[in-house]
Amino acid sequence: MIAAAVRRLLAGDVVGFPTETVYGLAADAGNAAAVARIFALKGRPPDHPLIVHIADPSGLARWAVHVPPAAVHLAAAFWPGPLTLILPRAPSVLDAVTGGQNTVGLRCPSHPLALRLLQSCTEAGIFGLAAPSANRFGHVSPTSAAHVQAEFGAALLVLDGGPTTVGIESTIVDLSGESPRLLRSGMLDEAQLVAVLGQPLMRAQTGAPRVSGSLAAHYAPATPLELVAAPELASRILQSQRAGLRVALLVRQPLSTMPTENVWIFNMPQDAAGYAQQLYGRIREADALALDAILVEALPTDLGWAGLRDRLQRAACGAGRRS
Ligand code: TXA
Ligand code: MG
Repeated sequence: MIAAAVRRLLAGDVVGFPTETVYGLAADAGNAAAVARIFALKGRPPDHPLIVHIADPSGLARWAVHVPPAAVHLAAAFWPGPLTLILPRAPSVLDAVTGGQNTVGLRCPSHPLALRLLQSCTEAGIFGLAAPSANRFGHVSPTSAAHVQAEFGAALLVLDGGPTTVGIESTIVDLSGESPRLLRSGMLDEAQLVAVLGQPLMRAQTGAPRVSGSLAAHYAPATPLELVAAPELASRILQSQRAGLRVALLVRQPLSTMPTENVWIFNMPQDAAGYAQQLYGRIREADALALDAILVEALPTDLGWAGLRDRLQRAACGAGRRS
């Protein structure tokens, strides 16, 4: 399968592949026509940059014009893993990859199949795979090969690496400015990032359009999704039942009196890592039921849930794409 994927990539085609976070839609980052295919397939606006996936940290110097010590330290601590670094781009990096910006996003994923694919690509002369999440623009990211196939059809070659273990997209740290900035939270422990950096992480300016995942309405299912504080769940459900509406309910703690009529209950793990692993799959399942709403029990406010709170808030902003 890997050999077939490399052949397609060499031919300028795109392939789906697993990472530990979500599945990606990959093309040779050095081939402009191949990269253009990703944008066409996804329906993604051309100014939204792609992450370049590399086999190991030695690839940093090929894609970045300057590799600051902070990048070396973060890569040593967290790669392979769910961390993307934004660095000043090397002059040779295609505009199609960077969205015309003077920076490039780089990541070494830890999924064994991704690493084998990247290694085989390197041997074949492909030194990086440009890959966004393998979903159509604005959709929920795929966490299984079947999700990718559902987004793009059977003609796309997808390497099946099973369900992803992290479950939400990588943490993105921008090291191209004066101080490190967190552009997207993920499941990496922020305290650990700060410990390695030896300085605090600035926050992304709101409204900056550089990270497509930072658009308010992103990661949205077609069904309207609503976050509901635990104490209000029971009355919110009663209200929808009275209105004759059918809802999905994602809860971490079973309600004392569990409603059943017109309610599809999804029991979610209590811990953040387990929750992240399941979230996108459960949202897809709930969405496929074509109900009136997906109600999600609001998440804890601890740091470890930050990435998940971010994704669910954006999914809720989507307010449903079904029309
Ligand atoms: O976990 C992940 O990061 C997954 C897997 C496949 O690696 N990829 C992923 O890609 O989530 P995508 O394209 O769906 O989201 C990557 C985000 C985008 O929002 C993009 O705008 C941002 O990274 N990005 C990429 N290059 C950038 C750059 N040079 N400056 C700022 N943001 C950048
Ligand atoms: Mg995405």
